[in-house]
Amino acid sequence: MQRSLVLLKPDCVQRGLMGKVISRFEEKGLAIIAMKMIHVTPELSAKHYAEHAEKPFYPSLESFITSAPVLAMAIEGLEAITVIRDMLGATNGLKAAPGTIRGDFSSSRQMNLVHASDSEESAKRELDLYFSEGEFCSFENAMVAFMR
Ligand code: PPS
Repeated sequence: MQRSLVLLKPDCVQRGLMGKVISRFEEKGLAIIAMKMIHVTPELSAKHYAEHAEKPFYPSLESFITSAPVLAMAIEGLEAITVIRDMLGATNGLKAAPGTIRGDFSSSRQMNLVHASDSEESAKRELDLYFSEGEFCSFENAMVAFMR
């Protein structure tokens, strides 16, 4: 089992697409084990996107991610990190394949609706930024029994 940090970004919240995106994860058989709506501060953005801090697009990325609330989720499932990244599609919505979340709902590299951890190491680091250990509500996910 793996856990991933998934953020429904400001564009997803403001466009009213949270329900659609959450449904995709639930229908796939993934379990949402923590969820909170928060306003990302510049300080949290700098920690979250530390690897991009020196990139020319960082000021724009920070301004976007702090512009409106995000829905932060911890999602658990078999091979959840790869499964979720595959469900999102390419970073740039214009390049993302139809059938993926970004491919179906985004046409932008910045406003690409959803962030998801890209490795077990980054998942642990990112989950620690958004959640404390006591906030995870892991449960027996009936669908997982059919997938093993
Ligand atoms: S990189 O440079 O290849 O490592 O970047 P990438 O992995 O494609 O994207 C990392 C996150 O930065 C966002 N991004 C941008 N934001 C604004 N403007 C530009 N040009 C831009 N390029 C990338 C992108 O949406 C990624 O956000 P997350 O939240 O990780 O999906």
